[in-house]
Amino acid sequence: MPKSAPELQKLRVHPPLPEPCAKSDVGKAYSRSACVRQNPQWPPSPSPKKWVCFDPLFMPQLEIKNLRVAIGENEIIRDLSLSVGLGEMHAIMGPNGSGKSTLAKVIAGYPDYKVTSGEVLMDGENLLDFEPDERARRGLFMAFQYPSEVPGVTIANFLRAAVQSRLPEGEELEATDYYAKLYEKMDLLEIDRSFTSRAVNEGFSGGEKKRCEILQMAMLEPRYAVLDETDSGLDIDALKVVANGVNSLRGPNLGVLLITHYQRLLNYIVPDFVHVMVHGRMVRSGGKELALELEEKGYDWIRDHAEEPVAA
Ligand SMILES: Nc1ncnc2c1ncn2[C@@H]1O[C@H](COP(=O)(O)OP(=O)(O)OP(=O)(O)O)[C@@H](O)[C@H]1O
Ligand SMILES: [Mg+2]
Repeated sequence: MPKSAPELQKLRVHPPLPEPCAKSDVGKAYSRSACVRQNPQWPPSPSPKKWVCFDPLFMPQLEIKNLRVAIGENEIIRDLSLSVGLGEMHAIMGPNGSGKSTLAKVIAGYPDYKVTSGEVLMDGENLLDFEPDERARRGLFMAFQYPSEVPGVTIANFLRAAVQSRLPEGEELEATDYYAKLYEKMDLLEIDRSFTSRAVNEGFSGGEKKRCEILQMAMLEPRYAVLDETDSGLDIDALKVVANGVNSLRGPNLGVLLITHYQRLLNYIVPDFVHVMVHGRMVRSGGKELALELEEKGYDWIRDHAEEPVAA
């Protein structure tokens, strides 16, 4: 059985995290880079760099529990629960205005939204307790439906600062290593090298912005990523490039929540689970075939059966 949320909340997790350890490793102290979670019972902490191997029964996941979110008087998310395990790809579909982007923004830490109840746990820690930058440092990545422009800051400098901020204190990012990785990822996403000296998203086409978002994800190597309509504005070739980029990052150490309207994206990024959100609730969850059913039947048949929320 996984540990209960209150138990896990007491424990501190630090990315980057290795594979779950063997039972024989539990309780052993490791260097910070090899650690999984700090044991609060480790008195007095011999060094902040010492961490204790985690319980193999602990299930790393991004867990949204009974979340309610309001904007002003308007309740947008109504008792929503969803768990994204590390290594899993979850797609969320649903009609316009059902609250998908609101959910993504609450996970990322947008200030406009009031969480009236519920929790968002990342590997047991309540993300709602942290500022957005701290969430990112802990391994959360968010690709927005409408990425912002950052005038005057080049992609190369922006990403370098972002990657540097994720390193343990005192560790310096080597310029040669950084550029080697940046160029490798840009080639993968078929982004022209000239983009490194362009300001982030300034004057980018819709498709270029989306590729740039995935480039950020590739460089930051998050533990959990929320991708909000990463397919919108992409032509079919760009869609394949972006999907290849996402697929190349897939693996046991990445959990993804992919928000999309289109089945065609899910032909390229095949999800493990599909959830349907209507009026701020998950009303149905299933495998990848659920997306095909939606494509065929639209949302009405689900709205008709959407009286009660389901746990996803
Ligand atoms: N900042 C805000 N102020 C007021 N209302 C908002 C705000 N953000 C979201 N809403 C409202 O919340 C509802 C859900 O919006 P949201 O953007 O989450 O929907 P969505 O499911 O992402 O839709 P789409 O598929 O069109 O992207 C909408 O009715 C929207 O108008
Ligand atoms: Mg949206």
